Amino acid sequence: MQQVQTVPALHDALRPWRTRGESIVFVPTMGNLHDGHLALVKRARKLGAMVVVSLFVNPLQFGEGDDFAGYPRTLQQDYALLEGLAEVVFTPAVTDIYGRSIDISTRVEVPGISDILCGAYRPGHFVGVTTVVAKLFNIVKPDIAVFGEKDFQQLFILRAMVADLAFPIVLEGVATVREPDGLAMSSRNQYLNARERRLAPKLYQTLLEVKERYLQRSATRIELEQQAEFKLKQYGFVPDYVSIRNARDLTTDLTVDSPCVILAAAHLGKARLIDNIPVAL
Ligand code: PAF
Repeated sequence: MQQVQTVPALHDALRPWRTRGESIVFVPTMGNLHDGHLALVKRARKLGAMVVVSLFVNPLQFGEGDDFAGYPRTLQQDYALLEGLAEVVFTPAVTDIYGRSIDISTRVEVPGISDILCGAYRPGHFVGVTTVVAKLFNIVKPDIAVFGEKDFQQLFILRAMVADLAFPIVLEGVATVREPDGLAMSSRNQYLNARERRLAPKLYQTLLEVKERYLQRSATRIELEQQAEFKLKQYGFVPDYVSIRNARDLTTDLTVDSPCVILAAAHLGKARLIDNIPVAL
């Protein structure tokens, strides 16, 4: 496994595979790897000849008051976890990605869908994500890129970006990996204290209940969302939203046969947790 920090070093590392015409599969991450990330890397392994993983805590996707400075950075541990799973690990510095000044660096934005749901509560977040992923795609030039479905909206926006900008890259989504009690794996779970950690699976349980009641048509969409938010508050969460959306366009236009997804974001102590579940009709 090669560890490279700069763009020229990455290009050197990828050249032999590119010359042989072998497929390159890319897994962008912000490091602090857990089993959810490893599921992405293992899927990547099955999809192509060589796997590149980036570890880059992207300042542009953190807003004011977000946890950029305190975001867990565990480089040596990440290298150890990737040994034998990835051929190349790319750990650029902020200047390798944004040049001299992040403030005047070109942005990539998918309007509309970047401003709803999590985008409404984290202004600028998805512009940070699409900008860094577009840059990483141009640097790595993968054939396939793998993302987690836990970040449903992120993957949805990235699919739109890839289509709009004609990136010749196939995006592969991987199902959310959960702890035995149902909590979706996330680097941010480590911000939870012991009491909050015991409560955290209630987010997933609440989504499952919304799904069951939605399928029974026992209340309107808005009622179900409001009742779920109320329940989360009672448990001790501070919910940003619980929302039932059309999985094809993320709108609230739901016909009887539209595939949907139930998404939620809620604060618990210092952690902002997100989760979603698909609803098969
Ligand atoms: O999902 C993440 O870890 C990040 O948003 C990503 C896609 C690596 C971009 O920084």
